Amino acid sequence: MDQAQWTSVDSYFTDLLLEPDPSLDTVLAHSGQAQLPAINVAPNQGKLLYLLALMKAARRILEIGTLGGYSTIWLARALPEQGKLVSLELDGSYAALAAQNIALVGESGKVEIRVGPALDSLRKMVEHGEEPFDLIFIDADKEHNPQYLELSLALSRAGTVIIGDNVVRKGEVVNASSNDPSVRGVRRFCELMATSPRLTATAVQTVGSKGWDGFSLAMVTG
Ligand code: SAH
Ligand code: DHB
Ligand code: MG
Repeated sequence: MDQAQWTSVDSYFTDLLLEPDPSLDTVLAHSGQAQLPAINVAPNQGKLLYLLALMKAARRILEIGTLGGYSTIWLARALPEQGKLVSLELDGSYAALAAQNIALVGESGKVEIRVGPALDSLRKMVEHGEEPFDLIFIDADKEHNPQYLELSLALSRAGTVIIGDNVVRKGEVVNASSNDPSVRGVRRFCELMATSPRLTATAVQTVGSKGWDGFSLAMVTG
């Protein structure tokens, strides 16, 4: 099995199961023109996030890591008109482009982007007694994933769904002696999911247009 086959299977499912969406294509084109790294979720993964949010009937979504707003848009589309999505982004220029992209698809009314280190934004949200979220998507710098999970738990209630992107990274997750801060962060994140008495979790590895990677999925139980 090789990357070309993984990509062609992704194309098959995407062409078959996703509505053509010129505005979403434009969003990715804008992100490319602005030289953002092409590390957004793939279209079929975006629709997976959308479906999970829809199944959860989420009214409040938290995203950590906005980039150009691609995953943000998929998640926002699952929200009812009165729903709210808060997305946290370190880079002000990425956040500005994301805001433009989100406006282009008509989802600005539901989305608030907060610029700055996500750890700071999350701590402020906890301090200010922010209402708990129904679904949380963790997809920023993997080094801080353990703290993102702890703070996400503080912004959760029973039933909150917590999704983590990029938990496999070409299989590196099993490398216990890795010195890569991202790998160490993801391993610690997985260990925390395993040991937190408030969480029940799984993880699945995926192949596709973005290579070999995976998602974690957890639910807050108490
Ligand atoms: N969720 C996006 C992809 C996010 S890529 C999508 O699928 O479309 C990861 C993002 O996390 C980048 O935009 C990066 O700037 C941001 N990031 C990195 N470190 C961060 C930090 N400390 N706080 C907040 N965002 C951070
Ligand atoms: C990277 C980050 C991501 O969130 C992703 O989905 C793929 C790659 C990265 O930093 O390389
Ligand atoms: Mg990711």
